[in-house]
Amino acid sequence: MCSTEVGMDYVNIPHVVAMVGLPARGKTYIAMKLARYLNWVGLPTKVFNVGDYRRQAVGSYQGHDFFHPRNRDGTNIRNKCALDALQAITFCLISQDVCEFLQSGGMVAVYDATNTNEERRQLIHHVICQSMGYKLFFIESICNDPKIIETNIMECKVTNPDYTNMEKEDAVKDFLKRIEHYRSLYEPLDEEKENQYSFMKIFDAGRRVVVHKQEGHIESRIAYYLMNIHITPRSIYLTRHGESVYNQLGRIGGDTDLSHRGRQYSNALAKFISDQSIPNLRVWTSCMKRTIQTASGISAPQERWKALNEIDAGICEGLTYEEIQEQYPDEFAARDQKKYSYRYPRGESYEDVLVRLESVIMELERQENVLVVGHQAVLRCVLAYFLDKSAVELPYLKVPLHTIIKLTPQAYGCKVEFFKIPIDCVDTHRSKPVVSINLHFSLLEATL
Ligand code: ADP
Ligand code: F6P
Ligand code: PEP
Repeated sequence: MCSTEVGMDYVNIPHVVAMVGLPARGKTYIAMKLARYLNWVGLPTKVFNVGDYRRQAVGSYQGHDFFHPRNRDGTNIRNKCALDALQAITFCLISQDVCEFLQSGGMVAVYDATNTNEERRQLIHHVICQSMGYKLFFIESICNDPKIIETNIMECKVTNPDYTNMEKEDAVKDFLKRIEHYRSLYEPLDEEKENQYSFMKIFDAGRRVVVHKQEGHIESRIAYYLMNIHITPRSIYLTRHGESVYNQLGRIGGDTDLSHRGRQYSNALAKFISDQSIPNLRVWTSCMKRTIQTASGISAPQERWKALNEIDAGICEGLTYEEIQEQYPDEFAARDQKKYSYRYPRGESYEDVLVRLESVIMELERQENVLVVGHQAVLRCVLAYFLDKSAVELPYLKVPLHTIIKLTPQAYGCKVEFFKIPIDCVDTHRSKPVVSINLHFSLLEATL
């Protein structure tokens, strides 16, 4: 068990998640995906990758021999890099004022290294728990499926900066030897000898999972999230409903029908989806008329989600942006100041919408091919999750009408493609006004 400093806020204790496992077991993938999720839910998280420290320390890659257990210089450099990364983590966690990513409450650092022996894990535990009083959660990925390992090497390792100057075939051979060097000294987390640690073991890409001594809400969120993800190839399609009657009038919210052009989009969408021949596609819509009507021609199982309903604009529902500015000038200005956290009176903020979308994201992670027919604000939140966008960028992301966005998970991120369907529609995007910046400049000029 980790010790904690007296008086420290137990709920908001900084967390270190330390990866464990042989190379090509998905550690970086898990680290980055987890960081994207935690940042999205509002827990600032940063990944510290020891490979990056090693590349900085030794420059160009020197071949698998560098990782040979009898290579003393290699071992010393690697130990130093591992310590440097650990030090960077503790520095960031102590100096929260200067660490931008840790300024707003939650805080998680992911230590992305192999950490394949007990001694290394003991050191991490000593530094993070005993010296610093922070919480530590090990995540070990164990995978002995040669097909998965081969795919991982082809997808993520031959394109790694270590192998920029090597032919693909040579890179694969070198990487396999590198794995063998690690294997000769590998000590998986031992449930008896290392019984005092909190950890999670993921076997064969999630086929089986063991969670041990998991504590507190951050660790349980991490464990639950990692139990839901999978690596089966698939795509997620996002589209807003077709143009609605309110869209044409420039009015926000409401629950109106599709316009004539919106109905045309609905037909075009059904054809687009059928032309793609997507296996086992599931279609999710909100509970609003415009998304249900948009998806009506698609022949695939459909589900309605209340959580996918558009942001509730409260007292501003049914108004145009001009009317809001006229009738509620302070509210209008306040929203422009902090659009992500601004909550409409008797309505919602983007932050509120994101909270209700967490269940949708979790279920999306569990599913394979899915088409989500949603709304502007809701799809901005979904897109921000997949594309790792910050809370500042999120409320201004461009999600135009009559456009299908195809997301395909690839390596550590997501490939994104936009398919614009050629049916005219209004543009509902309102950019962040630049007025306050101009004002700032004129004030600055006046001062000068
Ligand atoms: P490592 O950091 O362990 O060297 P990577 O993260 O670079 O390995 O490997 C990336 C690949 O791992 C991706 O292609 C991804 O599909 C795959 N992957 C993700 N999670 C797992 C897992 N739990 N077990 C095995 N492979 C995984
Ligand atoms: O205008 C369409 C719409 O979906 C509204 O119903 C909603 O209030 C708005 O977009 C959200 O966009 P923004 O946050 O930019 O106002
Ligand atoms: C690396 O150097 O790429 C690496 C992952 O280091 P370590 O095995 O020390 O974690």
